[in-house]
Amino acid sequence: MKIHQESQPYATVASEALITYIFEDGDSEGLVAELDGTTGGKLKELREAGEFGGKPLEMLLLHHAPGLAARRLLVVGAGKRGKFTRADLRRIAGAAVRRLKKAGVRGVAFLAREEQRAPEDLQAVVEGLVMATYESDKYRTKKEKEKKIDVGILLGWAPTKETAAAILRGRVIAESQNFGRDLINEPSNMLTPRMLAEKAVEMGEGAGLDVEVLEEERIRELKMGALLSVAQGSAEPPRVIVLRYTPAKAREGAPVLGLIGKGVTFDTGGISIKPANNMEKMKYDMGGAGTMLAAMRALGRLKPAVAVIAVIPATENMPGGKAQKPGDVQTAMSGKTIEVINTDAEGRLILADAITYARKLGCTHLVDAATLTGAIEVALANVNVGVFGQPEDYLENFLAAAKRAGEKMWPMPLDEEYEAMIKSDIADIRNTGSGKGGGAITAAWFIKEFAEDLPWVHLDIASTCWNDDAKPWLAKGPTGVAVRTIVEFAMNL
Ligand code: BES
Ligand code: ZN
Ligand code: ZN
Repeated sequence: MKIHQESQPYATVASEALITYIFEDGDSEGLVAELDGTTGGKLKELREAGEFGGKPLEMLLLHHAPGLAARRLLVVGAGKRGKFTRADLRRIAGAAVRRLKKAGVRGVAFLAREEQRAPEDLQAVVEGLVMATYESDKYRTKKEKEKKIDVGILLGWAPTKETAAAILRGRVIAESQNFGRDLINEPSNMLTPRMLAEKAVEMGEGAGLDVEVLEEERIRELKMGALLSVAQGSAEPPRVIVLRYTPAKAREGAPVLGLIGKGVTFDTGGISIKPANNMEKMKYDMGGAGTMLAAMRALGRLKPAVAVIAVIPATENMPGGKAQKPGDVQTAMSGKTIEVINTDAEGRLILADAITYARKLGCTHLVDAATLTGAIEVALANVNVGVFGQPEDYLENFLAAAKRAGEKMWPMPLDEEYEAMIKSDIADIRNTGSGKGGGAITAAWFIKEFAEDLPWVHLDIASTCWNDDAKPWLAKGPTGVAVRTIVEFAMNL
């Protein structure tokens, strides 16, 4: 989408559709009064007739409204003024684009209200617009008439250096989210670990990152026994993808942020095989990898002051003749021994070695993202990302970044009582809990055994990285969750 600001009066902007929004409670001043004036009282009439009340994401589409150069006026309900947040603004922009796309509109203009004219509001609108352009119809040969919105005009913000920077940030972040969503959507035959590595190399070139891909031999030399134990059941070799962003002014002793993303390009469960029902969804078990690649794509362009290294362990989890079996004991790169109780708890195995490697590369702070457990869906449904971490202030900083980015994330506990649940009878640790609940927490504890006492945040995105149903502002399928927060966090570390 081509995005630009215009400073001429909104009524004279001849776009295909002008988008704005109205609050539910007594919103009749300012812009609303003005629109009522130019359109000859249209809005007032419809509100009084009870046809449009301003309820959240309610839509009112008018053609050829008098006094406006735009062909259509789309008014979106904004709900109660007192409850309105920047996240709502982002959703309004997204929902409007998805509504107008259906109507075959190709260009829109978004008009901000007087109260939402901070650069951060502008960034949120751009993010909403760009994310809403995403569709997953790549493999459809008969595409429904090319319905695409490719122009977005922003009205209401006086153009300044700050607004130009906000537009750039919003565009880069949302385009990166869409890049990640594309990856997450790919079926496993189109995205093996090798193909994921190729895509990372290509992306890295465009984003100005250094990319290194570790092949099987190197992975063996490094003794990544936990990753290899998962990969051994597959005919496809594993990869470890390393992407580096180095700031222009690197300070001695400055923090190095490590981003680790679970890259299981397909999870059958291995010998502890999953039921057939819904197994096709396990193509998105590289959601953590997609998230971190998307974040790196954005960071390469936004250039934070901090060095960032992404480590993506990529493999399939297959039940081949060479597959590991329940009860097998594996030695991780760190030297810790792991009793593999359930081969379907493979994410934590590959993350263990990726974290050890990130530490070896000099990362001083860690964030990992993984579609790790079904249990996180039991705890938080598809509403909040489950967040684990240490120490307290690092976790708090991360959650504050999530708030600023408008992503719902919820802190989960890591009491020591849970650690006892992953003690093994014959090895250092086992890869599943006691089976008596707390599955997302014991999984996080397993990863913590490898992060040790480094500042570390773990995101369980198993229930949030995929939308089973479309939202008014977001297509069905991969959501791009956590990318905004990770970028926001890195920009402020
Ligand atoms: N990839 C799954 C987790 C998952 C479930 C992701 C649903 C997305 C949607 C993970 O590898 C897994 O299978 N976890 C098991 C762990 C169990 C065997 C301890 C789970 O959650 O059931
Ligand atoms: Zn699994
Ligand atoms: Zn998995």
